[in-house]
Amino acid sequence: MPLNRRLLITIGYIGLVFVISSFAISVKQNDPAPRGNNLKVLPKNISHEELEKIMDGFKDALGVKCGHCHASQDVNPRKLDFASDAKPEKDMARKMIQMTERINKKYFRKSNGEAMVQVQCKTCHRGNTKPEIKPAG
Ligand code: HEC
Ligand code: HEC
Repeated sequence: MPLNRRLLITIGYIGLVFVISSFAISVKQNDPAPRGNNLKVLPKNISHEELEKIMDGFKDALGVKCGHCHASQDVNPRKLDFASDAKPEKDMARKMIQMTERINKKYFRKSNGEAMVQVQCKTCHRGNTKPEIKPAG
């Protein structure tokens, strides 16, 4: 009977949506790189793409891997716990973000408010954790 069949398809469809959405929720809960829950200087509503871009920039600017600033997970030491503040390098990086922002705000704006070429992490770091200063001459 066509009516019964349509009903069956509808019920099947609802079931499918339910299965997919509960799968999506469980994936989200098991996300190994939870984000956005311990941001203290970057905007809390930052998009995933933007955060990734910034983090990749840090990596390149200092010539390190993500684990230079991010501690390992207790349960699986081969994975990183991005929200953890256990490593002092992460806190140093927070201070550096604020410092860089302040330098740009204070000294790198034209009188009309437009931004000039700005100071970035790599302006000082150039691929090193501690910017090296070679004596002149
Ligand atoms: C130079 C240090 C540094 C490096 C290298 C770095 N991060 Fe971060 N990361 C930070 C800091 C600092 C924060 C917290 C920013 C804040 O408090 O607003 C952060 C936050 C995060 C968060 C958000 C965590 C949360 O939920 O609060 C994720 C995810 C993340 N980083 C991923 C990465 C990945 C992936 C890499 C490698 C590509 C990486 N980071 C490399 C310093 C670093
Ligand atoms: C004006 C220059 C300057 C800028 C800009 C700058 N830094 Fe630094 N940073 C330094 C200096 C100098 C040190 C070394 C301090 C020391 O001797 O401990 C340092 C140290 C650090 C350290 C600790 C060193 C280590 O072993 O990991 C981290 C992390 C760091 N910077 C991250 C950043 C990030 C991320 C940015 C961009 C948001 C940034 N810095 C921008 C000058 C700068």
